[in-house]
Parts: sequence; structure tokens; C-alpha cells
Amino acid sequence: MAVTIIVGAQWGDEGKGKIVDLLSAKAGVVARYQGGPNAGHTVVVDEEEIVLHQIPSGILHPHTRCIIGNGVVIDPVILMEEVAFLESRGITVAGRLFISHRAHLIMPYHKKLDTAREAAQGAAKIGTTGRGIGPSYVDKYDRCGIRIVDLLDRNGLREKLIANIESKNKVLERIYDGESLDADQIIQDYVAFDQRIDAFVKDTTVYLNRAIDAGEEVLIEGAQGTMLDVDFGTYPYVTSSNPIAGGACTGLGVGPTRIDKVLGVVKAYTTRVGMGPFPTEFGVEFGDKMRQLGGEYGATTGRPRRCGWFDAVIVRLAAMVNGLTHLAITKMDVLDTLPEIQICTGYRYQGRTLEHYPAELWIQEHLEPVYETHPGWLCSTREARHFSDLPKAAQRYLRRIEELTRVPIAIVSIGSKRNQTLFMETD
Ligand code: GDP
Ligand code: IMO
Ligand code: MG
Repeated sequence: MAVTIIVGAQWGDEGKGKIVDLLSAKAGVVARYQGGPNAGHTVVVDEEEIVLHQIPSGILHPHTRCIIGNGVVIDPVILMEEVAFLESRGITVAGRLFISHRAHLIMPYHKKLDTAREAAQGAAKIGTTGRGIGPSYVDKYDRCGIRIVDLLDRNGLREKLIANIESKNKVLERIYDGESLDADQIIQDYVAFDQRIDAFVKDTTVYLNRAIDAGEEVLIEGAQGTMLDVDFGTYPYVTSSNPIAGGACTGLGVGPTRIDKVLGVVKAYTTRVGMGPFPTEFGVEFGDKMRQLGGEYGATTGRPRRCGWFDAVIVRLAAMVNGLTHLAITKMDVLDTLPEIQICTGYRYQGRTLEHYPAELWIQEHLEPVYETHPGWLCSTREARHFSDLPKAAQRYLRRIEELTRVPIAIVSIGSKRNQTLFMETD
């Protein structure tokens, strides 16, 4: 039995939801450690597509217990909608979903501040999901955040909310020229959440560490991806948390010595939603074609995703900062009809070759990718059930990714359904 962290190794939307769902068949506990409803993790069961935002993608297997850890910022409105949706689909959530009492809440003023700031920045905006993620983490680190435990203390909650709403209203009115929020309404709404959320609240750190001690199979599900990490991503075009594997330790209260494997999920090409550098991005016409082929529209906001070639430099960065032990390559089938496929092996910048992803935004925006060209396989991979069923050109493409990233591939995904998956012969 093992503890495995599953992380996005690109700019998010790599197919983490599908991989976590698949591996959950053998897991006892599945836990989320960061991000919030900015995530959109898609799981396809039979013909139905289910998108999860805050609840771990393991919830669809009736035997798993799922945790939303202290590092996640929770929007209680969206959470209750997710619970209601799952229950309406016959998936029992009560008694199986546990929320950390230390997790911070996303408040209405966080969402307002998120969208007001983006609007004020005009062309310089980040392109956030507008879910209040950044402002909520700001309050956490500014030590004025509201936590799940606070919901259970009505009088204290009222006091904290009044203080916060007063100061946020000043910012909304005076800096963003926006409308202020009605404190009484927010207090009324959030006080009402205590009864609904109470049943789910637990000391999830104790619960999870006990499960690990008992030798249970544990999956730890990341949201977003390495290049959106606030420390290692394309700052400031990042999210406000640490999606990398280290975030799992702080976001759940699990020591690094308890982790056995780190599985990096990558698409066989690359996508990104929102603004910011993207060295291997396609031109408009080919980008449109790939968006159609891959169905590349955001699972949370529906925005068109930007598309580009596989970038081995960023996946090497992901291998290093996450300590990846294995890769899962998704969406191989999307490349089925391309006569030629490129892989970026390095960058050129002002006549120099760069082996590592630079920190400077002004360099990131002018990197020239160095490509090698691979022949396409021009046939469907969707019916393959073993690596050896794949056309030789597809096998060589995957082996080359292993060579360039120096990480062995454990899983290849060739469609969104559970059975469209190949497991490689590794542990
Ligand atoms: P996540 O945020 O990392 O969980 O990824 P998303 O759910 O946002 O986006 C991945 C999309 O690709 C979803 O629509 C999945 O159903 C779909 N998907 C996952 N794996 C594959 C695959 O191997 N092939 C194809 N064609 N689609 C896939
Ligand atoms: P999953 O878990 C892709 C992007 C946003 C924006 C930036 C900051 O589904 O892979 P935020 O709302 O977090 O402050 O936005 O991060 N972003 C994602 N892109 N997948 C995600 O999650 C994302 N979550 C945030 O588009 O560029
Ligand atoms: Mg997604």
C-alpha cells in the first residue's frame, strides 16, 4: 500500500480528474490539498461527464473516503451545490466526505475583489477564474481569513465578518469604484452554513495520518499544475497556491517521509487557460484546429484553452520540483490525425541555449523553442489496450518523452473513458 501524490505537470487541465478517478478504484482515501473551485476535474463514467471543483475525484467510487484539506480554500455555496449534485446522482457523500476544520473560506468579498482587480488591470490582467481564490489566500496569509472552525462559533464569526466586510467595502468603493457588500446578508448566509457543513467537519490531518499508519492506499490529488505554482510557475501569471507536491505536505499535514510516489500528469501536447507566457503555443489557425480536436474548453469557465506542442523543458522542471517518480500521459488520441508532431527539447534566447526554465518574465515571453519533429501515426489509438497495441510511431513518441524528461511513463490515456487507458509494466 502506498501514498501517491498526483500533480499537474503543465498549466493545469492535464486530465488529473480522469487519472485520480481511475486509481481510486484501489484507494481507501483520496485527499485534495490546495486550490479551490478554480479547479475543474472531469471524470467520465459510462457516457456521463461529471466535473468536480472542490470534492476529490475519488468520490465516484462508493468505497472511498474523501478529504478536503486545510490547504484548500472552500466556497461553501459551490460545495453545497456539488454535494447536492452528487447526491441527486445517487452518490452518497454524507459520511464519506471530510472537510478540514482548518480550511479557509472563500467569502463573497473575495469574489468581488478578484473580478474588480482583474477589470481594473485591463490588458495586464491574469485571466483568473474569478472564483475569489487569490483574495482568499491573501487573507489567510494576512491572518484575517475566516476558517471552517469559525463557522461553528456564531458570535466570533459575526465579529470577524463585520471587521472584514468593513475593510473590504472600503477597498471596493475607494479603489475599484465598485459597490459595497451588505454585511447583514453575508452574516445571515454564512451563519446558515454552520448546520449544513457541521456534518462534514473533521480533524482531517489526524484522520489521514491514521489511514496512512493503517497501511491504506492513499491518493493525494493536486489541482492546477506546476507552471501555475506561485513559486515555480510563470509568476505573476499563476494561481495563489502551491500545486507542486510539496504543497501536499502543508495542505494536508502529512510529513514528506510518508510519501511513496509522485505521479505527474501531462497531456501529449500542452494547453493553458488565461494569460501569461507559453513558449510552444500554436499559431491561431493550427491552435483552433487542435482546440477542436482536443475539446479544449475550460471545465470551470468554459473559456477556450490555448494549445501548443509538448514542452519537455517545463516537464523537466516539473520532474525536478515535484520529485516525479512516474508520468501519466493523457490525450494521446488527440494527436492521431497529425502527419507530423513536434516536441520542444530546449529554448534559444538571444543566441544562447537555455536548458532550464528562466524566472524572468521578460525572458519567458521571448523564448524560441527548439523543436524536433516526429512522424505522426495517422491511425486511431483509441482501441489500444496495451502499450504494444499502439502504432510504432506513437510508441517512439512516448519513449522519447521518457528520455527527455527522465521520468518513466506509468499510464497512457487514449480517451476520456475509464477503459481507454494503458498501464505500463512498472510498479
Ligand atoms: P484536470 O483539471 O486535470 O482534471 O483536467 P480537465 O478535466 O480540466 O480537462 C481534461 C479534459 O480531457 C476532460 O474533458 C477529460 O474528459 C478529457 N480527457 C482526459 N483524458 C483524455 C484522453 O486521454 N483523451 C481525450 N480525448 N480526452 C481526455
Ligand atoms: P485544474 O485543477 C487550468 C488559471 C487561471 C488563471 C490562473 C489564476 O482544473 O487543472 P485563479 O482563479 O486560480 O486565481 O487563476 O490560473 N487556473 C487554471 N488553469 N486549470 C486549472 O485548474 C486552473 N485553475 C486556475 O486560468 O490563468
Ligand atoms: Mg481542469
